[in-house]
Amino acid sequence: MTNPINITFDEIALDDIAGVTGKLAILVSPDGKIDSMARRVNRLSKGAVARLVDSEQFAGLDIGEGVTFAFPAGMAAEAVLAVKLPKRPTVAEARKAGAAMAKFKGNEALTALLASCPKAADISYGLALRAYTFDEHKTADRKEQLGATVIVTDPEAVAAEAAPMAALTEAVFFTRDLVNEPSNVLTTEDFAARLAAMHELGLDVEILEEAELEKLGMRTLLAVGQGSTSPSKVVVMRWNGGGDEAPFALVGKGVVFDTGGISIKPSAGMEDMTMDMGGAGVVSGVMRALALRKAKANVVGVVGLVENMPDGNAMRPGDVIRSMKGDTIEVNNTDAEGRLVLADILWYTQERFKPVGMINLATLTGAIIIGLGHENAGVFSNNDKLCNDFLKAAKAEGEGAWRMPLSPAYDKMLKSRVADMKNSCGRPAGSSTAGQFLQRFVKEDMPWIHLDIAGVALLKEDSALAPKGATGWGVRALDRLIRDTVEG
Ligand code: BES
Ligand code: MN
Ligand code: ZN
Repeated sequence: MTNPINITFDEIALDDIAGVTGKLAILVSPDGKIDSMARRVNRLSKGAVARLVDSEQFAGLDIGEGVTFAFPAGMAAEAVLAVKLPKRPTVAEARKAGAAMAKFKGNEALTALLASCPKAADISYGLALRAYTFDEHKTADRKEQLGATVIVTDPEAVAAEAAPMAALTEAVFFTRDLVNEPSNVLTTEDFAARLAAMHELGLDVEILEEAELEKLGMRTLLAVGQGSTSPSKVVVMRWNGGGDEAPFALVGKGVVFDTGGISIKPSAGMEDMTMDMGGAGVVSGVMRALALRKAKANVVGVVGLVENMPDGNAMRPGDVIRSMKGDTIEVNNTDAEGRLVLADILWYTQERFKPVGMINLATLTGAIIIGLGHENAGVFSNNDKLCNDFLKAAKAEGEGAWRMPLSPAYDKMLKSRVADMKNSCGRPAGSSTAGQFLQRFVKEDMPWIHLDIAGVALLKEDSALAPKGATGWGVRALDRLIRDTVEG
């Protein structure tokens, strides 16, 4: 597992700044004003900071971006990054500044001189989140990542504020690792073992094997995995930090690889389907966060782990399968497998846990990428209150989310000639018909959200707080939602 870089909070005597080795970061407000620590750097470097502030390059920077200068005379530091940041930055600006420091830092040691910046904890949060690397499988250029020292006037207070953020960082890294991991490593067995190991954190983890799933009648989930040599599993994670009230439920699609099955996908780009367990990855990350920060809430996380492969034993297009709920489904496309997995675990979760609310996450449709690109996840809900609470939490965390329609008008597209419904109905409104399908497995009065994260789980470009690859989108928003509404 990728561990977050070590960040220590400390203070410094101004006279000691000249002797700091490695890389150094300072803050400069957009109007050119600088704090005592940056002033000292300016004096030591014979006015380099002041000249930099007057430069066109600095004028062209956005808030949270920085300019560097190397080997300043009069200082032991090898390079200095001056980050443009107002004296009272917003949380988003502070995290962006931290991310700029992480990029500048690379694998080397960094000292961030933040003086009495009121958002020092958020700067270190951005730094930690952006300093993620996934080099588990690189034998050649795998380097040890040195830590960062954050220098502030009140290190104890900032360290206390940063502690829950460190828990979230670890949880986000857990999710990113799961999503980045190739499918020959992250099999259903390996995934379940990583979740079972969270027992140590105080989570109650239960693994349901195929025989058990068969008994429960989870035929649609099992049908997806029946062409794979990896056994299908459902993992139930429980965090009981609240009283004895009913839990909130998180449900995730965990297709460890999606070939499409017999309705096989084109080979170009198929390697990206290692991320098709992204929903389950986020659910697992949130459960880890709750345990690490000892949340005062009861939450159950349920993930369906399967692999969608073509095989002599695989489900066929045209097969009719009975779900745990009892509704029958004509599989007219074996590549619309995510909804088959979710149908059974959504139903199971409601029957067993009677949750007060339920959110599922899934890399469900390519259509959501056509609709929203990589900026926003699709949000589908039967409950305005829960939906708005979630949108608010996502906005506060800077995780893009946009509400999309569900409507009985889409139901006619799901009609099957031979069964109660079919699993795929072509290109028009492909993400909404998928949501409409899922809603058939949600009880009428159950507050519910479906998050289609196909466009946001894995990115080909660096984003604000993550290098290219898995983002961990949703871990922070869902943790915040639980903090603000379930705990609170
Ligand atoms: N896992 C895919 C959706 C997906 C596409 C995720 C691109 C990430 C990036 C899903 O199982 C799928 O294949 N969906 C089909 C549904 C269709 C057959 C109704 C799709 O989107 O084409
Ligand atoms: Mn598919
Ligand atoms: Zn899929």
